[in-house]
Amino acid sequence: MFDLVIRGGKIATATDTFNADIGISDGRIAALGTGFDGADVINATGKLVLPGGIEAHCHIAQESATGGMTSDDYRSGSISAAFGGNSCFVPFAAQHRGMGVTETLDLYDSRATGSSVIDWGYHLIIADPTETALHDELPAAFERGITSFKVFMTYDLMKIDDRQFLDILTVARRYGALTMVHAENSGMIAWMSDLLVKGGHTAPRNHALSHPALAEVEAINRAISLAKLADAPLLIVHVSTPEGADLVADARRQGAKIFGETCPQYLFLTRDDLDLPGMEGAKFMCSPPVRDMATQDGLWRHLQAGTFSVFSSDHAPYRFDETGKLANGPEASFKQIANGMPGIALRLPLLFSEGVRTGRITLQQFVALTATNAAKLYGLTQKGSIAVGLDADIAIWDPEEVRIVRAEDQHDNMDYTPFEGRELTGWPQTVLTRGARVVDGGKLVAQPGQGRFVKRARIDLTGHPGVIVPELDPAQNWGTEVRP
Ligand code: URP
Ligand code: ZN
Ligand code: ZN
Repeated sequence: MFDLVIRGGKIATATDTFNADIGISDGRIAALGTGFDGADVINATGKLVLPGGIEAHCHIAQESATGGMTSDDYRSGSISAAFGGNSCFVPFAAQHRGMGVTETLDLYDSRATGSSVIDWGYHLIIADPTETALHDELPAAFERGITSFKVFMTYDLMKIDDRQFLDILTVARRYGALTMVHAENSGMIAWMSDLLVKGGHTAPRNHALSHPALAEVEAINRAISLAKLADAPLLIVHVSTPEGADLVADARRQGAKIFGETCPQYLFLTRDDLDLPGMEGAKFMCSPPVRDMATQDGLWRHLQAGTFSVFSSDHAPYRFDETGKLANGPEASFKQIANGMPGIALRLPLLFSEGVRTGRITLQQFVALTATNAAKLYGLTQKGSIAVGLDADIAIWDPEEVRIVRAEDQHDNMDYTPFEGRELTGWPQTVLTRGARVVDGGKLVAQPGQGRFVKRARIDLTGHPGVIVPELDPAQNWGTEVRP
C-alpha cells in the first residue's frame, strides 16, 4: 500500500516510454509496476506521465542593476511555473557591485522561504568577484548547495572582464560548479546603440539592430576559449544564433566541457514582433534579441541534433506599465526599456505542441531538454527522471488538450504574454513536487511555502573529458607544472 499511486498512465523518461503504475511513499518513487494500490490514487489512463519540468533559467524577485524589480516573486513565479508543468525551479540570486555573496544569498533566502510552492535553488550571479568573494564566499556558497554561477559579458553594471572570468571559471572548476554566461560583446552593442540613438532611431525595433548576431558569436567564441584555457565547464545561456550554436557544437565535438541553452523566444518569435506600432514592440524586447525565421530554423536543427542540453524560459517579467517596460515613460528609447519577457508557464507547452506533436523532436528529447539534463548539469541528483528512489516530481499531461494562450491564464503577475493567441495542443494537468499535489486538474492546491530549498551537488561531467591546452600540458610545455 503506497501513500499515492499514479495508475494506468504512459510514462516517458529521457530514454524510454512505457506503461506502468507509479507507487509513491514518503515523497519518493517507491516502485514502478502494475496493479498497485494506494491510500490515494490518481487515474492517469490516457495521460502522459513525465518528470516534472525543471526551469533552470528564470528571474524571480530579482532587481536589475538599475533598480527595476521583476514583477514575479517566489509565490507567483512558482505558481506560474507549476501550472506550466514544472515541479522545481532555479532562479537567480543576483550579486550587485558592493554586495557580498553571502549577503546576496541571505537576501534571496528571505524572499523564497515560505513563498515557493515548488522546490527551488539559486544560481548565483557574480558581478563583483573580489578576492573575498572568490576565495571565501564562493566556496561557502558551494557548501550551501549553490553549485552554479552566472556571469555577464555585457551590461555596464554587471559585466566582468576576461581575467575575472578566468578566475571565476577556475574556482568553479575546483569545486565542481558550473559557470553560466550571458555572452554578448558589450562594446559592439554600445557602439551600435550610440549610432542608432544619434540617428534618432529610438523605437523598440532598434533593440534588434543594436545587438547584432556578430556580438553574440564573438562573445561565445571568447567565452568558450576562456573555458578551454581553464578546462572548466561552461554553459552558454540563451543562445540566439545558429552560428553561436555551431561554436557550442564544435567545442563539444572537441571534448570541451561546453553546454548550450536556448529559449522559446528564439524558436517562436522574430524581430517583426519588435516592429509593432508605438511601444508594443517593447513587450518582445529581451537580450539577446529575437531575430528572424532563418534563425529559428537553424536553432531548431541544433535542438534536434543535440547541441543544446537545456531549453529554458528565461522568464524575466516586466509588466507593460510604469513598474516595468514603461518605467522611463511612453517615449523612452530602446536603451531605456527593461530587457526580458515572461514565459515560465509556456516553456513546456510550446515545446510539446510545436516540437513533440509536430515530430520535430522526440518525447525523449523533450524530457531530456526540459528536466533530465538540467538535473545532471545543476546537481539536482534527486530529480529529473522517473525512477525508483527519486523524488516524486511528476507532471501528468493530457497530450490531446487544445488551448489558446491567454495572458490571464498564466497565473503570473504579468499583464501580457508574448505568445498571446497561439493554439497549443498538449497541456500539463496535475503537477506533484515530492509526491504532493501542487496543481491538480487545473487548480492550485498547494500552500505557499510547500516548496523546499534544494541543496545541489556538483555537476555530473561524465562523458565530457575536457581539453588541456598545450601550454598547460607538461608533455608539451617542457614539463612546466601550471594548472589552473
Ligand atoms: O533580456 C533578458 N534576457 N533579460 C533577463 C536577463 C538576462 O540577461 O538573462
Ligand atoms: Zn542573460
Ligand atoms: Zn536571463
